[in-house]
Amino acid sequence: MRESSPMNAGDGAYSYTKNSTVQRDAASGVKDAIKEAIMENFDIEKVLGGLTTFTIADLGCSVGPNTVFAMESLLETVEHKCRQQGLEDREFQLLFNDQIGNDFNTLFAALPQPRSYFAAAVPGSFYGRLFPCSSVHIAYSSFAIHWLSKVPDELQRKGSAAWNAGRIHYSDDSSEAVLEAYADQFQRDMEAFFRARAQEIVPGGVMVIVVPAVPDGAITFSGGVAFRFLESILSDMVKEGVIEQDQVDSFNVPNVYPCVKDLRRVVERNGCFEIVKMEFGEVSIGKVEPENSIMIIRAIFEGCMANHFGAMVVNQLFVRAMQNKLQFAEILNSAGIQGTISQIMVVLKRI
Ligand SMILES: C[S@@+](CC[C@H](N)C(=O)[O-])C[C@H]1O[C@@H](n2cnc3c(N)ncnc32)[C@H](O)[C@@H]1O
Repeated sequence: MRESSPMNAGDGAYSYTKNSTVQRDAASGVKDAIKEAIMENFDIEKVLGGLTTFTIADLGCSVGPNTVFAMESLLETVEHKCRQQGLEDREFQLLFNDQIGNDFNTLFAALPQPRSYFAAAVPGSFYGRLFPCSSVHIAYSSFAIHWLSKVPDELQRKGSAAWNAGRIHYSDDSSEAVLEAYADQFQRDMEAFFRARAQEIVPGGVMVIVVPAVPDGAITFSGGVAFRFLESILSDMVKEGVIEQDQVDSFNVPNVYPCVKDLRRVVERNGCFEIVKMEFGEVSIGKVEPENSIMIIRAIFEGCMANHFGAMVVNQLFVRAMQNKLQFAEILNSAGIQGTISQIMVVLKRI
């Protein structure tokens, strides 16, 4: 299975480390609700079953710093709960998972020193098994499961009804075949994701998921205007002979933004988790300047675009994006998406 490309490495100007404030604010907007759900629905003594080591895993952690904020916030909640239950002598292990190409060095170099937990990297795809059976007490994943394991095959077959000519993603006006190809891949991936987690999370353990999303019945993700913006720049680059039309037609971002109904169906089909909370909401991310938005989009998608178009073309694409930042500001304003992001927060309990 070919992995989707990880986020931009290191801590330079174009890195995910320096350009991931939207994801940080989105996750911190639901931090208190997650804490509350864990405090109310989690019995540490029961899930530990006599063990002294408590394990928390982050799936799709990237290079930081967001994973560190999220994991330390979960740890704080668990420590609080431990004190409440009179379990003061526990040890904590934080497992940071991402694809093998992720820059784990940057992440581990930035972990606080000294720290009150053991830390380890677990490289590999979360669409397969990552941890031993019944070994994880809390699994967390933020802004990661919307990444498919691969671009759906049908989208890459020229002549297929799902050939996504001129487009790099989907929206309301995409053909049925394109929408179906994305939806089927998401369904298959989610089945694999939940199958693996059901084996790894202990009975009574918790899984928390935060994912960019759409309201029930909607198709187009509000942030999808960014794809339309990139499509228009790619189209100019085709007209100028910098790239071929076929290169654009055969490139598709492997992301699906689900609705509550989609996720509920997956959880119910899997049958191993009770839904404690599953809520769609618009979370405030403050005012994001168009320049910052372009840097964030670059930190996320540069890797997967460079795999397809080559690094030089993608550099040129983002240089052009910056030159057109005022046009992007207008697009963002007319879409009315300045200041919030739509997402689903899920808290599940392993039965
Ligand atoms: C947008 S980043 C989110 C990072 C971090 N959770 C945050 O909120 O800032 C998505 C991460 O998911 C990872 N990812 C995507 N598909 C994955 C897979 N199949 N297995 C593990 N990680 C994956 C990517 O490599 C990337 O680091």
